[in-house]
Amino acid sequence: MKRSGEIIVSRGANPLRRYLLVGVALVIGQVYGADVVPAQAPLRERISFNADWRFTKDDPNGVADTLSYNNIKDWVTATGTEFAKDSNLAQRKRPSGTLGADVVYTQPGFDDKAWRSVTVPHDWGIEGPFKQEYSGATGRLPWSGVAWYRKHFQVPGRDQGRQFYLDLDGAMAYANVWLNGQYVGGWPYGYASWRVDLTPYVKFGAENVIAIRLDNPANSSRWYPGGGIYRNVWLVKTAPVHVAQWGVYVTTPEVAKDHAKVNVQVTVDNRSGTAADVTVRAAIYTLPQRGKAMGASEPVRLQVAAGTKGTVALTAAIAKPVLWTLQKPSLYAAVVMVEQGGKVVDSYETTFGIRTIQFDPEKGFLLNGARVNFQGVCDHHDLGALGAAVNLRALQRQIEMLKEMGCNAIRTSHNPPAPELLDLCDRLGLVVMDEAFDCWSRGKTRNDYNLLFADWHEKDMRAFVRRDRNHPCVVLWSIGNEIPEQTSERGAAIARELSGFVHEEDPTRPTTSGCNNARPGSAFAAAIDTIGVNYQGSRPSKSQPYGNYPLFHEASPKVFLYGSETASTISSRGVYTFPVAAQPGAVSGGGRRGDPNAIPPGQDVTHHQMSSYDLYYPGWATSPDTEFAAQDRFPFVGGEFVWTGWDYLGEPTPWGGRSDPSRSSYFGIIDLAGFKKDRFYLYQARWRPDLPMAHILPHWNWPDRVGQVTPVHVYTSGDAVELFLNGKSLGKKTKGQYEYRLRWDDVTYEPGELKVVAYKNGKTWARDVMKTTGPAAKLLVRADRSRIAADGQDLSFVTVTVADKAGLLVPQSMNRIRFTIQGPGRIVATDNGDATSFESFQSHEHSAFNGLCLAIVQGQPGQAGTITLKAESEGLKSATITLRSQTKQ
Ligand code: GAL
Repeated sequence: MKRSGEIIVSRGANPLRRYLLVGVALVIGQVYGADVVPAQAPLRERISFNADWRFTKDDPNGVADTLSYNNIKDWVTATGTEFAKDSNLAQRKRPSGTLGADVVYTQPGFDDKAWRSVTVPHDWGIEGPFKQEYSGATGRLPWSGVAWYRKHFQVPGRDQGRQFYLDLDGAMAYANVWLNGQYVGGWPYGYASWRVDLTPYVKFGAENVIAIRLDNPANSSRWYPGGGIYRNVWLVKTAPVHVAQWGVYVTTPEVAKDHAKVNVQVTVDNRSGTAADVTVRAAIYTLPQRGKAMGASEPVRLQVAAGTKGTVALTAAIAKPVLWTLQKPSLYAAVVMVEQGGKVVDSYETTFGIRTIQFDPEKGFLLNGARVNFQGVCDHHDLGALGAAVNLRALQRQIEMLKEMGCNAIRTSHNPPAPELLDLCDRLGLVVMDEAFDCWSRGKTRNDYNLLFADWHEKDMRAFVRRDRNHPCVVLWSIGNEIPEQTSERGAAIARELSGFVHEEDPTRPTTSGCNNARPGSAFAAAIDTIGVNYQGSRPSKSQPYGNYPLFHEASPKVFLYGSETASTISSRGVYTFPVAAQPGAVSGGGRRGDPNAIPPGQDVTHHQMSSYDLYYPGWATSPDTEFAAQDRFPFVGGEFVWTGWDYLGEPTPWGGRSDPSRSSYFGIIDLAGFKKDRFYLYQARWRPDLPMAHILPHWNWPDRVGQVTPVHVYTSGDAVELFLNGKSLGKKTKGQYEYRLRWDDVTYEPGELKVVAYKNGKTWARDVMKTTGPAAKLLVRADRSRIAADGQDLSFVTVTVADKAGLLVPQSMNRIRFTIQGPGRIVATDNGDATSFESFQSHEHSAFNGLCLAIVQGQPGQAGTITLKAESEGLKSATITLRSQTKQ
């Protein structure tokens, strides 16, 4: 990748310009790897600190709970005080003396060679094994407990005098850091990104040893949280006078066709022993091309007393700004330079976009003045078989598939996401509802954030906003999901407090919250800037046959309203049960209800699966169709965030009971392995009305149903469909008002071929065919990408299909697939999307689930070459695929 280096070399111009370009290069060097950082002492380095960790579970013997949070709270809460204005929190000082010296794992001399070598991001829970006795809500995986990570690293003598920071994008949970045996600091919230200052404890010209202790309490989550240093870690080196952590805040208060005003607020941190007299300036570049600066601020002088921070406001103008839109998400970089005594001491780059947002109670959400309906999904952070360990390509694949469906918005339920998710949304053009918490002072599980709320909510809230406020994709700050205090005055007071923190950190975006219990006109609803409604907006009740959206609108006519969580429809890919509920759907959650012998509609009780007619949901939820109808009926509603885009580990409603085998959700539109369920096409039909498509369900292999009624449903972006069974028309149907699927509920099954022709405005629009297949005969393999980077991170997702002779997917086939790999690659995980499977994600053998199986392949770092993956199965013709793993040019 030739990105930055050349820009510096090929352009010489004036000295300031050269500085700016060097600055750009250095910052890019930090982003794209050490190989592009020039040899001379860089101003600022941000070095990946992911490699070469040692890992072990549990504390050493005899330590008991000496390092448990409650025992060391005074030490931990002295971290991050700069994010608190509450004087009780801001003035916390660490106690005198040492902490943890009696625990050998903190000590630099401890021999950790016997510990396991790991590269972070790392999730210790995902290796399992799944066990029935582990909670279904959190995936039946062993993610809880204490663990330690240690890393040895050299610090060159020439770094003496520089600042050293350790930046963790996320560690699950209750992290505490020691350097060379000295306690540095810690951060308990597992979804937070945070920094500790290593400088006082660094040994220059010597080996240094970092030790990190994590503690994941049981009963601390409603879904699978993962365990470990599951996000990226960075070592940041700066001059003593430098741009503070998240110290640049870019806003664009004026945006017009011919110009935009860019405000760049810069906070300079002076960690030196003397007052600093600095000059700060900013230049704006287009991304990714860079080249000539598009605008620059005047230099502004700033005095920063020793050991303090100072903030300066810069302004730049840009002619003919290229706006950030969903179709063309154009980005800019603000490069800030700090000069001291005529020398540049820091350069710091921030990506931003130029766009306007408005939330209008009648017109909806306006991006650059035009209405954008949220066609959104809620997603948890895990990456299926890869667990919680963040992986850029896996995240990108999730987003690409969501975009293919027409999704334009993501809600990061219910916590701060990996920073990479926001980078991707910036680049790919999706808006984000960025969420901080799932609970406040009243918990949902015994050991969740309620235990941290008093000491940490201000710090976590402010740090979160500071981290994410430059992302153009972020449009809403969610201060919480289904907060238990929603119905009380105390809840409203906390909501006002949190909203206040957000407004102070970022006055450009509104706050919101997912309200399931806050009622129209409640104090809680009044305490947030925009009202997000979970389920109650569209769910019919006796008094409100079309849900509560109109009541909220009447009670808060000046407030933007939208569905922050909708549908929660449950299904298993490729499973269909009969009879099929009459539309628009049926409650089926919570396992068996009422009559213990009655089977709730849509459930395959024997196999713990849910029917894919997309009509079944738990008692609090709705079907997609019901939500669509409410959205169409009440156009002031600004769109929806479906629960969920992707299946996730944990919360296997309705099979989360102690004796149920399930370990992952049924809510996803896409299953855990990344295979599309039928519902994908129902949303695509609505969200991409211009894409000609039609989709038939169910499959047509029902040897036991010959002569029985077997309903056929069709999702299409057209307005009418004719269905044919074995060439005979079963009639043409047209979508009525508030109808989103076409259904033939009286089809009598006979094997053969179902065919549909969809029409739009009277013209043929799309077709689909579903055939009865022959028996399974062979495997087919297909990779989402046949070329991957040999960087030890990039992935190819390889789908295996169990097919008949003609190459058609054979429904209900569960054949066992065996994978073998040759060349410079490894199989990092396998999966099939079955929520009940206890098969190891690391196994190279995995059953297919309803005809599909997945292998995730990664190249070996630095080793280019051809990787061959073979899939075999008893009695079936095997299949092989070759992938190319490439090193950077
Ligand atoms: C909601 C909740 C989500 C998830 C969902 C399942 O009430 O906010 O986190 O639990 O229900 O339907």
